[in-house]
Amino acid sequence: ATYETLLVETKGAVTVITLNRPKALNALNSTVMAEMVAAMAAFEADASQGCAIVTGSGEKAFAAGADIKEMAEMPSAQFFAQDFFADWTSKVVKATRKPWIAAVNGFALGGGCEVAMMADFIIASETARFGQPEVTLGVLPGMGGSQRLTRAVGKAKAMDLCLTGRMMGAEEAERAGLVARVVPAAALMDEAMKAAEKIASLPPLAIKANKEAVNLAFETTLDTGLVMERRLFQVLTATRDKEEGMAAFVEKRAGVWKGE
Ligand code: HXC
Repeated sequence: ATYETLLVETKGAVTVITLNRPKALNALNSTVMAEMVAAMAAFEADASQGCAIVTGSGEKAFAAGADIKEMAEMPSAQFFAQDFFADWTSKVVKATRKPWIAAVNGFALGGGCEVAMMADFIIASETARFGQPEVTLGVLPGMGGSQRLTRAVGKAKAMDLCLTGRMMGAEEAERAGLVARVVPAAALMDEAMKAAEKIASLPPLAIKANKEAVNLAFETTLDTGLVMERRLFQVLTATRDKEEGMAAFVEKRAGVWKGE
């Protein structure tokens, strides 16, 4: 499929989705959201694809937020009538059981920071800048910033960022636990590709179960989460890939995965 606001390429088992509105610093308008829903659904449905990377075109921005010019024109009632931004969580995050990585290459502000936080983890370039500046526009984060950021970095930094609108750099973001890895800007896509290829090379059912289990930690009590983890473990013991994985270990060879 071709998109107006995204570039989508498949490289082996990895889908690379590039937010592609560089003149607007990849601001996220309604078309971007609709196309992300479609691109992520295509990735999820394609059995040849094991991991996706979402990044921004150009060196300056991952995404500088929801499109302020679009929002400025929208009648107020439409935000509620359309449940504005809801598809990001319901159709991009929840509908995607395969992993995806955000490769953050510059400004990740407002909705840009929020989309990065929707990913399973973030790899940031040293030039990445994260922030939730919505307060300066008279609003607040609308795509998960007050919730996902607080869960990722705790109350102190989440309040600091949301109340002052300031940006934090890659190093601070890594220290705070928002970012998994920081790499030089020139190495960003290589590092993200290597991580994605590694994930795509591993047994797909186990990958899905690992993702589901980690996400449960944000949704449930420790007791329920531990039970669910054991159940997922027990379910995986019934897969061919578990037989193969353990046999391959014992026989000192690489496993060959069926996704069964
Ligand atoms: C629309 C945007 C944009 C955005 C940048 N642009 N961010 N357009 N929506 N979020 C456009 C600019 O208008 C400009 O286009 C072009 O991109 C380049 O931006 P500049 O501002 O000229 O670049 P620079 O001076 O380098 O500053 C970079 C920046 C700044 C610091 C990132 O652009 C900025 O502050 N952007 C807004 C960040 C923000 O507030 N994000 C949160 C959005 S609200 P033109 O054509 O004018 O030259 C949100 C959720 C809200 O995400 C939820 C509400 C319910």
